[in-house]
Amino acid sequence: MNGIKNKGAKDGGTSAKTTGSKGKSKSSLKGLLRKYAPKKNQFAAVDIGASEIKLVEISTADGSPVVTAFGKLPTPPDTLDDLADEEVLVNALNELVLTSGLQLREVITTISGDKVVTRHIKLPVMPDKELETAVRFEVEKLIPVPADELTIRHLKLGVTGVNGQKTLHLLAAAVPTSYIYDFYRVFARADLTVAAIDLQVLSLWRVFCGLKPGSGSKGTLGVMDIGASSTQFLVVRDGLLEFTRTLPVGGNLLTQSLAEYYGYELGQASQMKEERGRLLSSEEAAATSEEAMQMDFSLRDGLSELVREIRRSIDFYASQEGAAPIERFVLSGGAVKLAGFREFMADAMEVPVEFGDPGLSGQPVDETSPEAFDQAYAVALGSALREVVE
Ligand SMILES: Nc1ncnc2c1ncn2[C@@H]1O[C@H](COP(=O)(O)OP(=O)(O)OP(=O)(O)O)[C@@H](O)[C@H]1O
Ligand SMILES: [Mg+2]
Repeated sequence: MNGIKNKGAKDGGTSAKTTGSKGKSKSSLKGLLRKYAPKKNQFAAVDIGASEIKLVEISTADGSPVVTAFGKLPTPPDTLDDLADEEVLVNALNELVLTSGLQLREVITTISGDKVVTRHIKLPVMPDKELETAVRFEVEKLIPVPADELTIRHLKLGVTGVNGQKTLHLLAAAVPTSYIYDFYRVFARADLTVAAIDLQVLSLWRVFCGLKPGSGSKGTLGVMDIGASSTQFLVVRDGLLEFTRTLPVGGNLLTQSLAEYYGYELGQASQMKEERGRLLSSEEAAATSEEAMQMDFSLRDGLSELVREIRRSIDFYASQEGAAPIERFVLSGGAVKLAGFREFMADAMEVPVEFGDPGLSGQPVDETSPEAFDQAYAVALGSALREVVE
Protein backbone atom coordinates (compact mmCIF):
# COMPACT_ATOMS: atom_id res chain seq x y z
CA MET A 1 0.00 0.00 0.00
CA ASN A 2 2.40 2.64 -1.11
CA GLY A 3 1.61 6.21 -0.22
CA ILE A 4 -2.08 6.34 0.68
CA LYS A 5 -2.96 9.99 0.41
CA ASN A 6 -6.05 11.73 1.61
CA LYS A 7 -6.26 15.11 0.02
CA GLY A 8 -9.37 15.71 2.13
CA ALA A 9 -7.49 15.34 5.38
CA LYS A 10 -7.95 18.24 7.72
CA ASP A 11 -4.24 18.89 8.04
CA GLY A 12 -3.86 19.21 4.30
CA GLY A 13 -3.17 15.54 3.73
CA THR A 14 -0.01 13.75 4.67
CA SER A 15 1.26 10.71 2.85
CA ALA A 16 1.06 7.54 4.84
CA LYS A 17 4.50 6.12 5.39
CA THR A 18 6.07 2.78 5.98
CA THR A 19 7.86 2.07 9.20
CA GLY A 20 11.41 3.15 8.68
CA SER A 21 11.33 6.69 7.31
CA LYS A 22 13.28 7.24 4.15
CA GLY A 23 14.89 10.43 5.38
CA LYS A 24 14.91 14.00 4.13
CA SER A 25 17.40 13.73 1.26
CA LYS A 26 15.53 10.85 -0.33
CA SER A 27 12.17 12.58 -0.04
CA SER A 28 13.52 15.78 -1.59
CA LEU A 29 15.01 13.69 -4.40
CA LYS A 30 11.61 12.12 -4.84
CA GLY A 31 10.07 15.60 -4.96
CA LEU A 32 12.53 16.68 -7.63
CA LEU A 33 11.89 13.57 -9.69
CA ARG A 34 8.16 14.19 -9.44
CA LYS A 35 8.63 17.82 -10.49
CA TYR A 36 10.58 17.02 -13.63
CA ALA A 37 8.93 13.74 -14.58
CA PRO A 38 6.47 14.04 -17.47
CA LYS A 39 3.01 14.67 -16.05
CA LYS A 40 0.77 11.64 -16.34
CA ASN A 41 -2.65 12.17 -17.85
CA GLN A 42 -3.97 8.62 -17.99
CA PHE A 43 -4.81 6.44 -15.00
CA ALA A 44 -6.34 3.01 -14.62
CA ALA A 45 -7.75 1.04 -11.71
CA VAL A 46 -8.94 -2.49 -11.08
CA ASP A 47 -11.31 -3.37 -8.24
CA ILE A 48 -11.47 -7.13 -7.63
CA GLY A 49 -14.72 -7.47 -5.71
CA ALA A 50 -16.19 -10.59 -4.14
CA SER A 51 -18.65 -10.79 -7.03
CA GLU A 52 -17.20 -8.84 -9.96
CA ILE A 53 -13.90 -7.45 -11.19
CA LYS A 54 -14.30 -3.86 -12.34
CA LEU A 55 -11.77 -1.98 -14.46
CA VAL A 56 -11.70 1.68 -15.49
CA GLU A 57 -9.28 3.94 -17.31
CA ILE A 58 -9.50 7.72 -17.26
CA SER A 59 -7.74 10.49 -19.11
CA THR A 60 -7.13 14.04 -17.97
CA ALA A 61 -5.55 15.16 -21.23
CA ASP A 62 -8.37 17.68 -21.82
CA GLY A 63 -8.37 19.08 -18.30
CA SER A 64 -11.20 17.34 -16.51
CA PRO A 65 -11.21 13.56 -16.19
CA VAL A 66 -12.93 11.54 -18.91
CA VAL A 67 -13.50 7.78 -18.77
CA THR A 68 -11.72 6.18 -21.73
CA ALA A 69 -12.24 2.47 -21.02
CA PHE A 70 -14.18 0.32 -18.61
CA GLY A 71 -15.40 -3.23 -18.18
CA LYS A 72 -16.36 -5.85 -15.65
CA LEU A 73 -16.71 -9.58 -15.40
CA PRO A 74 -17.55 -12.06 -12.64
CA THR A 75 -14.81 -12.76 -10.13
CA PRO A 76 -14.01 -16.47 -10.50
CA PRO A 77 -15.48 -18.17 -7.40
CA ASP A 78 -13.19 -18.90 -4.44
CA THR A 79 -10.15 -17.20 -5.96
CA LEU A 80 -9.94 -14.11 -3.74
CA ASP A 81 -9.70 -15.61 -0.28
CA ASP A 82 -6.17 -16.93 -0.34
CA LEU A 83 -5.46 -16.40 -4.04
CA ALA A 84 -5.01 -20.17 -4.17
CA ASP A 85 -6.23 -20.56 -7.73
CA GLU A 86 -4.03 -17.83 -9.14
CA GLU A 87 -4.19 -19.01 -12.73
CA VAL A 88 -7.97 -18.53 -12.96
CA LEU A 89 -7.73 -14.99 -11.63
CA VAL A 90 -4.87 -14.17 -14.02
CA ASN A 91 -6.98 -15.43 -16.93
CA ALA A 92 -9.93 -13.31 -15.80
CA LEU A 93 -7.70 -10.20 -15.62
CA ASN A 94 -6.30 -10.95 -19.07
CA GLU A 95 -9.79 -11.26 -20.48
CA LEU A 96 -10.94 -8.03 -18.87
CA VAL A 97 -7.92 -6.09 -20.16
CA LEU A 98 -8.66 -7.37 -23.63
CA THR A 99 -12.41 -6.78 -23.69
CA SER A 100 -12.29 -3.36 -22.04
CA GLY A 101 -9.66 -2.01 -24.42
CA LEU A 102 -7.40 -0.85 -21.59
CA GLN A 103 -4.35 0.97 -22.94
CA LEU A 104 -2.30 1.37 -19.79
CA ARG A 105 -0.41 -1.46 -18.15
CA GLU A 106 -0.04 0.30 -14.81
CA VAL A 107 -3.04 0.11 -12.51
CA ILE A 108 -4.17 1.14 -9.07
CA THR A 109 -6.02 -1.51 -7.15
CA THR A 110 -7.75 -2.09 -3.84
CA ILE A 111 -7.82 -4.99 -1.42
CA SER A 112 -11.31 -5.77 -0.34
CA GLY A 113 -13.18 -7.60 2.35
CA ASP A 114 -11.55 -9.01 5.41
CA LYS A 115 -7.96 -8.91 4.15
CA VAL A 116 -7.49 -5.28 5.05
CA VAL A 117 -8.18 -4.14 8.57
CA THR A 118 -8.69 -0.43 9.16
CA ARG A 119 -8.93 1.30 12.51
CA HIS A 120 -9.39 4.88 13.61
CA ILE A 121 -6.76 5.84 16.16
CA LYS A 122 -6.40 8.96 18.30
CA LEU A 123 -2.92 9.90 19.50
CA PRO A 124 -1.26 12.99 20.91
CA VAL A 125 0.36 15.17 18.23
CA MET A 126 3.97 14.00 17.73
CA PRO A 127 6.70 14.08 15.08
CA ASP A 128 6.11 11.80 12.06
CA LYS A 129 8.99 9.49 12.95
CA GLU A 130 7.59 8.77 16.41
CA LEU A 131 4.12 8.46 14.95
CA GLU A 132 5.06 5.45 12.84
CA THR A 133 6.18 3.54 15.91
CA ALA A 134 3.13 4.66 17.87
CA VAL A 135 0.74 3.56 15.10
CA ARG A 136 2.46 0.18 14.87
CA PHE A 137 2.10 -0.20 18.62
CA GLU A 138 -1.61 0.69 18.51
CA VAL A 139 -2.23 -1.69 15.59
CA GLU A 140 -0.50 -4.50 17.53
CA LYS A 141 -2.97 -3.93 20.34
CA LEU A 142 -5.98 -3.92 18.00
CA ILE A 143 -5.20 -6.69 15.52
CA PRO A 144 -4.43 -10.25 16.66
CA VAL A 145 -1.72 -10.83 14.03
CA PRO A 146 2.00 -10.28 14.69
CA ALA A 147 2.80 -6.79 13.41
CA ASP A 148 5.92 -7.98 11.59
CA GLU A 149 3.65 -9.99 9.27
CA LEU A 150 1.62 -6.90 8.41
CA THR A 151 2.13 -3.97 6.10
CA ILE A 152 0.82 -0.98 8.03
CA ARG A 153 0.03 2.48 6.70
CA HIS A 154 -1.57 5.44 8.33
CA LEU A 155 -3.28 8.56 7.18
CA LYS A 156 -3.77 11.75 9.16
CA LEU A 157 -7.42 12.74 9.14
CA GLY A 158 -7.15 15.81 11.34
CA VAL A 159 -6.20 17.43 14.61
CA THR A 160 -8.63 18.32 17.36
CA GLY A 161 -7.78 20.42 20.36
CA VAL A 162 -9.48 20.33 23.75
CA ASN A 163 -8.12 22.51 26.60
CA GLY A 164 -4.88 23.10 24.72
CA GLN A 165 -4.31 19.34 24.34
CA LYS A 166 -3.98 18.49 20.64
CA THR A 167 -5.12 15.07 19.46
CA LEU A 168 -4.31 13.56 16.10
CA HIS A 169 -7.02 11.54 14.35
CA LEU A 170 -5.56 8.78 12.18
CA LEU A 171 -6.85 6.06 9.92
CA ALA A 172 -4.56 3.04 10.12
CA ALA A 173 -4.73 0.17 7.63
CA ALA A 174 -3.02 -3.21 7.92
CA VAL A 175 -2.78 -6.03 5.37
CA PRO A 176 -0.79 -9.28 5.66
CA THR A 177 2.41 -8.59 3.71
CA SER A 178 2.31 -12.05 2.11
CA TYR A 179 -1.13 -11.22 0.64
CA ILE A 180 0.25 -8.04 -0.91
CA TYR A 181 3.07 -10.00 -2.54
CA ASP A 182 0.54 -12.52 -3.89
CA PHE A 183 -1.57 -9.67 -5.22
CA TYR A 184 1.35 -8.04 -7.01
CA ARG A 185 2.30 -11.40 -8.52
CA VAL A 186 -1.22 -12.09 -9.87
CA PHE A 187 -1.25 -8.69 -11.59
CA ALA A 188 2.29 -9.16 -12.90
CA ARG A 189 1.28 -12.47 -14.44
CA ALA A 190 -1.49 -10.60 -16.28
CA ASP A 191 1.15 -8.09 -17.52
CA LEU A 192 -0.11 -5.38 -15.18
CA THR A 193 2.00 -3.36 -12.78
CA VAL A 194 0.38 -2.34 -9.52
CA ALA A 195 1.20 1.36 -9.05
CA ALA A 196 -0.54 1.55 -5.67
CA ILE A 197 -2.97 -0.27 -3.46
CA ASP A 198 -5.76 2.03 -2.37
CA LEU A 199 -8.27 1.87 0.43
CA GLN A 200 -11.85 1.53 -0.81
CA VAL A 201 -13.14 4.14 1.61
CA LEU A 202 -10.66 6.67 0.22
CA SER A 203 -11.68 5.82 -3.35
CA LEU A 204 -15.29 6.46 -2.39
CA TRP A 205 -14.48 9.76 -0.71
CA ARG A 206 -12.64 10.84 -3.85
CA VAL A 207 -15.30 9.89 -6.35
CA PHE A 208 -18.27 11.35 -4.45
CA CYS A 209 -16.75 14.19 -2.40
CA GLY A 210 -13.26 15.05 -3.66
CA LEU A 211 -14.19 15.28 -7.32
CA LYS A 212 -16.61 18.15 -6.84
CA PRO A 213 -15.26 20.09 -3.88
CA GLY A 214 -17.60 22.80 -2.68
CA SER A 215 -20.75 21.52 -4.34
CA GLY A 216 -23.00 20.20 -1.61
CA SER A 217 -20.05 19.47 0.64
CA LYS A 218 -21.44 21.28 3.69
CA GLY A 219 -22.98 19.20 6.43
CA THR A 220 -22.63 15.56 7.38
CA LEU A 221 -22.94 12.98 4.63
CA GLY A 222 -23.00 9.20 4.91
CA VAL A 223 -21.73 7.13 1.96
CA MET A 224 -22.59 3.44 1.67
CA ASP A 225 -21.06 1.24 -1.00
CA ILE A 226 -22.96 -2.03 -0.77
CA GLY A 227 -21.20 -4.82 -2.65
CA ALA A 228 -21.80 -8.56 -2.64
CA SER A 229 -20.19 -9.57 0.64
CA SER A 230 -19.18 -6.27 2.22
CA THR A 231 -20.33 -2.71 2.69
CA GLN A 232 -18.05 0.29 2.95
CA PHE A 233 -19.51 2.95 5.20
CA LEU A 234 -18.04 6.42 5.55
CA VAL A 235 -19.07 9.66 7.15
CA VAL A 236 -17.89 12.86 5.49
CA ARG A 237 -18.29 16.14 7.35
CA ASP A 238 -17.98 19.42 5.51
CA GLY A 239 -16.17 17.53 2.76
CA LEU A 240 -13.65 15.86 5.07
CA LEU A 241 -13.46 12.17 5.87
CA GLU A 242 -14.43 11.66 9.49
CA PHE A 243 -15.33 8.02 10.04
CA THR A 244 -15.05 4.75 8.10
CA ARG A 245 -16.08 1.17 8.64
CA THR A 246 -16.23 -2.01 6.58
CA LEU A 247 -19.26 -4.17 7.38
CA PRO A 248 -19.30 -7.89 6.55
CA VAL A 249 -22.69 -7.73 4.81
CA GLY A 250 -23.89 -7.04 1.26
CA GLY A 251 -26.15 -8.13 -1.58
CA ASN A 252 -25.36 -11.81 -0.93
CA LEU A 253 -27.78 -11.64 1.99
CA LEU A 254 -30.63 -10.96 -0.43
CA THR A 255 -29.51 -13.75 -2.75
CA GLN A 256 -29.38 -16.19 0.17
CA SER A 257 -32.77 -15.10 1.34
CA LEU A 258 -34.30 -15.70 -2.12
CA ALA A 259 -32.49 -19.03 -2.45
CA GLU A 260 -33.93 -20.25 0.84
CA TYR A 261 -37.41 -18.95 0.16
CA TYR A 262 -37.72 -20.40 -3.34
CA GLY A 263 -35.43 -23.43 -2.88
CA TYR A 264 -33.08 -22.18 -5.62
CA GLU A 265 -29.34 -22.55 -6.17
CA LEU A 266 -27.43 -19.35 -5.34
CA GLY A 267 -26.70 -18.61 -9.02
CA GLN A 268 -30.35 -18.94 -9.92
CA ALA A 269 -31.43 -16.78 -6.97
CA SER A 270 -28.89 -14.11 -7.89
CA GLN A 271 -30.19 -14.00 -11.46
CA MET A 272 -33.74 -13.72 -10.20
CA LYS A 273 -32.77 -10.85 -7.88
CA GLU A 274 -30.94 -8.91 -10.57
CA GLU A 275 -33.50 -9.44 -13.35
CA ARG A 276 -36.81 -9.43 -11.50
CA GLY A 277 -36.10 -8.33 -7.93
CA ARG A 278 -38.22 -5.42 -6.74
CA LEU A 279 -38.92 -3.83 -3.39
CA LEU A 280 -42.43 -2.48 -3.35
CA SER A 281 -43.61 0.86 -2.03
CA SER A 282 -46.75 0.71 0.14
CA GLU A 283 -48.87 1.97 -2.79
CA GLU A 284 -47.41 -0.68 -5.10
CA ALA A 285 -47.94 -3.38 -2.48
CA ALA A 286 -51.62 -2.52 -2.30
CA ALA A 287 -52.15 -3.24 -5.99
CA THR A 288 -49.83 -6.01 -7.02
CA SER A 289 -49.66 -9.74 -7.65
CA GLU A 290 -49.13 -12.41 -5.03
CA GLU A 291 -45.84 -13.29 -6.75
CA ALA A 292 -44.44 -9.76 -6.45
CA MET A 293 -45.51 -9.65 -2.79
CA GLN A 294 -43.64 -12.88 -2.05
CA MET A 295 -40.50 -11.60 -3.73
CA ASP A 296 -40.71 -8.34 -1.77
CA PHE A 297 -41.20 -10.27 1.47
CA SER A 298 -38.23 -12.52 0.82
CA LEU A 299 -35.93 -9.61 -0.17
CA ARG A 300 -36.89 -7.67 2.96
CA ASP A 301 -35.93 -10.66 5.05
CA GLY A 302 -32.35 -10.46 3.74
CA LEU A 303 -32.37 -6.68 3.96
CA SER A 304 -33.23 -6.66 7.65
CA GLU A 305 -29.77 -7.96 8.56
CA LEU A 306 -28.09 -5.48 6.23
CA VAL A 307 -30.00 -2.59 7.77
CA ARG A 308 -29.29 -3.85 11.28
CA GLU A 309 -25.53 -3.83 10.58
CA ILE A 310 -25.69 -0.39 9.00
CA ARG A 311 -27.67 0.99 11.95
CA ARG A 312 -25.11 -0.48 14.34
CA SER A 313 -22.34 1.40 12.53
CA ILE A 314 -24.32 4.62 12.50
CA ASP A 315 -24.91 4.25 16.25
CA PHE A 316 -21.23 3.59 16.77
CA TYR A 317 -20.32 6.71 14.82
CA ALA A 318 -22.93 8.71 16.74
CA SER A 319 -21.40 7.60 20.04
CA GLN A 320 -18.02 9.15 19.08
CA GLU A 321 -17.08 12.42 20.68
CA GLY A 322 -18.17 15.38 18.56
CA ALA A 323 -20.18 13.29 16.06
CA ALA A 324 -22.93 15.10 14.13
CA PRO A 325 -26.20 13.59 12.91
CA ILE A 326 -25.96 12.27 9.32
CA GLU A 327 -28.12 14.54 7.18
CA ARG A 328 -28.21 12.51 3.96
CA PHE A 329 -26.81 9.37 2.38
CA VAL A 330 -25.21 8.59 -0.94
CA LEU A 331 -25.52 5.01 -2.21
CA SER A 332 -23.21 3.02 -4.46
CA GLY A 333 -22.17 -0.59 -5.05
CA GLY A 334 -23.94 -3.17 -7.20
CA ALA A 335 -26.48 -4.16 -4.54
CA VAL A 336 -28.15 -0.74 -4.62
CA LYS A 337 -29.30 -1.42 -8.20
CA LEU A 338 -32.17 -3.52 -6.86
CA ALA A 339 -35.42 -1.85 -7.98
CA GLY A 340 -36.92 0.11 -5.07
CA PHE A 341 -33.70 0.01 -3.02
CA ARG A 342 -33.15 3.76 -2.73
CA GLU A 343 -36.72 4.35 -1.59
CA PHE A 344 -36.40 1.50 0.90
CA MET A 345 -33.20 2.99 2.37
CA ALA A 346 -34.73 6.47 2.55
CA ASP A 347 -37.55 4.99 4.65
CA ALA A 348 -35.12 3.04 6.82
CA MET A 349 -32.68 5.92 7.38
CA GLU A 350 -35.34 8.64 7.69
CA VAL A 351 -33.16 11.17 5.86
CA PRO A 352 -32.76 11.85 2.11
CA VAL A 353 -30.95 9.06 0.24
CA GLU A 354 -29.60 9.51 -3.28
CA PHE A 355 -27.54 7.49 -5.74
CA GLY A 356 -23.93 8.56 -6.16
CA ASP A 357 -23.09 10.18 -9.47
CA PRO A 358 -19.49 11.15 -10.29
CA GLY A 359 -20.82 13.00 -13.34
CA LEU A 360 -17.82 12.12 -15.52
CA SER A 361 -18.01 12.14 -19.26
CA GLY A 362 -18.04 8.56 -20.62
CA GLN A 363 -18.68 7.01 -17.20
CA PRO A 364 -20.14 3.48 -17.15
CA VAL A 365 -23.92 3.45 -17.19
CA ASP A 366 -26.43 0.91 -15.97
CA GLU A 367 -27.62 -1.64 -18.53
CA THR A 368 -31.24 -1.24 -17.49
CA SER A 369 -31.38 2.57 -17.15
CA PRO A 370 -28.77 3.99 -19.52
CA GLU A 371 -28.92 7.51 -18.11
CA ALA A 372 -27.83 6.28 -14.65
CA PHE A 373 -24.25 5.72 -13.46
CA ASP A 374 -23.47 2.02 -12.95
CA GLN A 375 -22.99 2.05 -9.16
CA ALA A 376 -20.78 -1.04 -9.22
CA TYR A 377 -17.92 1.08 -10.63
CA ALA A 378 -17.74 3.63 -7.81
CA VAL A 379 -14.69 2.16 -6.07
CA ALA A 380 -12.74 1.52 -9.30
CA LEU A 381 -13.43 5.04 -10.55
CA GLY A 382 -12.38 6.55 -7.22
CA SER A 383 -9.13 4.60 -7.29
CA ALA A 384 -8.41 5.74 -10.84
CA LEU A 385 -8.82 9.34 -9.59
CA ARG A 386 -6.15 8.80 -6.95
CA GLU A 387 -3.63 11.13 -8.53
CA VAL A 388 -6.18 13.48 -10.02
CA VAL A 389 -8.37 14.70 -7.18
CA GLU A 390 -6.84 17.50 -5.17
N1 LIG B 1 -29.87 -5.16 -10.76
C1 LIG B 1 -29.47 -5.63 -9.58
N2 LIG B 1 -30.35 -5.81 -8.58
C2 LIG B 1 -29.96 -6.29 -7.39
N3 LIG B 1 -28.69 -6.61 -7.08
C3 LIG B 1 -27.76 -6.44 -8.04
C4 LIG B 1 -28.09 -5.95 -9.33
N4 LIG B 1 -26.95 -5.90 -10.06
C5 LIG B 1 -25.95 -6.35 -9.25
N5 LIG B 1 -26.44 -6.68 -8.05
C6 LIG B 1 -25.70 -7.24 -6.90
O1 LIG B 1 -24.61 -6.41 -6.61
C7 LIG B 1 -23.57 -7.18 -6.01
C8 LIG B 1 -22.28 -6.91 -6.72
O2 LIG B 1 -21.97 -5.55 -6.56
P1 LIG B 1 -20.45 -5.06 -6.56
O3 LIG B 1 -19.85 -5.31 -7.89
O4 LIG B 1 -20.47 -3.66 -6.04
O5 LIG B 1 -19.84 -6.06 -5.48
P2 LIG B 1 -18.31 -6.51 -5.31
O6 LIG B 1 -17.47 -5.30 -5.37
O7 LIG B 1 -18.02 -7.60 -6.29
O8 LIG B 1 -18.36 -7.14 -3.85
P3 LIG B 1 -17.62 -6.65 -2.52
O9 LIG B 1 -17.62 -5.14 -2.54
O10 LIG B 1 -18.44 -7.23 -1.43
O11 LIG B 1 -16.24 -7.23 -2.61
C9 LIG B 1 -23.99 -8.65 -6.13
O12 LIG B 1 -24.52 -9.08 -4.90
C10 LIG B 1 -25.07 -8.58 -7.20
O13 LIG B 1 -26.01 -9.64 -7.08
MG1 LIG C 1 -16.91 -3.85 -3.96
